[in-house]
Parts: sequence; structure tokens; C-alpha cells
Amino acid sequence: AGPTYEAIDPVRGITNLSSGKMGFAIARAAREAGAEVTLIAGPVHLSTPRGVARVDVKSASNMLSAATQRAQSATIFIATAAVADWRPAQAADHKIKKDGSGKTPELQFVENTDILATIAQSERAQSGALFCVGFAAESQDLLANAQAKRARKGVPLLVGNIGPATFGKDDNALLLVDAQQAVELPHASKLTLARQLIDEIAKRLTPA
Ligand code: CTP
Repeated sequence: AGPTYEAIDPVRGITNLSSGKMGFAIARAAREAGAEVTLIAGPVHLSTPRGVARVDVKSASNMLSAATQRAQSATIFIATAAVADWRPAQAADHKIKKDGSGKTPELQFVENTDILATIAQSERAQSGALFCVGFAAESQDLLANAQAKRARKGVPLLVGNIGPATFGKDDNALLLVDAQQAVELPHASKLTLARQLIDEIAKRLTPA
């Protein structure tokens, strides 16, 4: 859950506006439904839901390690984090200083590993032992973008939402896209939506 933080130097970095609220609500709802939950959290200001084990991480690379490790035994992986797509190619060891000439630093970036796609390609996910759920933060064309992202990430369920409209808010609206259909969970509090999402995941895991 939450954003990641990619260091430029010891005092600066790149992050994003994700508050972590949706991920924390999902962790709470999963726990309420009886799951044993580990919440891997980027830098956020939220308290840990009761009964949930929490692992705090900073960068996308820290988050990848923590998630990969837990994915070896988990049965469900829900990827709600707003993982930074890029990180500075090299974090400076010391604070980058102005030299008085007005010259600005030239930052080079490298792409971060896609945590969800990596875990979704693992043997446990491919065999059905680990059910992977992705999120999609879009700014437009939610259905088409969510369908394309579901296929690209190789996950059975992808949850679309309009990113800029929901970051930091206490409510949201979701679009659940799987191989068969798209189901809308209309505007409600993040906790209400989280409980509905957990029900929808449980339905997909319960043999008919
Ligand atoms: N995600 C991830 N690792 C990344 C980037 C994204 O695990 N390095 C996950 C997110 O947690 C989310 C899903 O992938 O579950 C989609 O994230 P999103 O930011 O919507 O999409 P991107 O893959 O970054 O694609 P784009 O920015 O082009 O829309």
C-alpha cells in the first residue's frame, strides 16, 4: 500500500500522492473476513489495522523484496501500492549542492521492476496457488485501460480507479475487471469498497 520513495540524495527524493488509505482499508477488510494479513506499506501516515502484521518499506526495490518473500507462502496478493515507475539511476551519497552558477542537476532515471507483473509470473501464481489482484490508477478511459492492464500484468482480477480523483480521499469508486466481465462498485467509503472487494475475491476463490 501507499507510495514508494526513490532517493535522489540523502535529503531529497521522488514520491507521489498516494495516501495508502485504500490499501490499509483492504488490509483491514481482509483481516475482518478472517485472513492472516501482511501489509507492506510505503511511507504513509496511517495506523496499522488491528490484527494486521505490517512491514514498512521505502523504495520500490525494498517493496519488491518484501513482496517477493511473502509471495512464497501467501494465497492472495493484492497490489494497491502506487509504486514509482522510475528511480534516479544513482542516488548521490551526499546532498547535491548548488554551485552558484545557476546550473541545475541533470537526473538520469532507470525503470523500477514491476512488482505485480513479476509476482504474477511466478510459478505459484501461474499454478493458481497465489491469486493476484492488481490495481490501475488511471486518469481517463477506465474500462479500456483496466482491461489492457489486466492482460499486460497477467492477473485474473484488476481493479480500476481514477487516480487523481481518489488520492488522499476517504471515498472512491472501483471497476473490477476479470476475464469474463466488468463489475462496478459505485462510489462509497474506501472501507465499504474494501469489504466489497474482499467479498468479490472470496467469490472467485470459492469453488462453485
Ligand atoms: N505496480 C507494481 N510495480 C510497479 C508499477 C506498478 O507492482 N513498478 C502495480 C501497482 O501496484 C498496481 C498495478 O501495478 O497494482 C498498476 O499500476 P499503475 O501505476 O496503474 O500502472 P503502471 O503499470 O505503472 O502503468 P502506467 O503508469 O503506464 O499506467
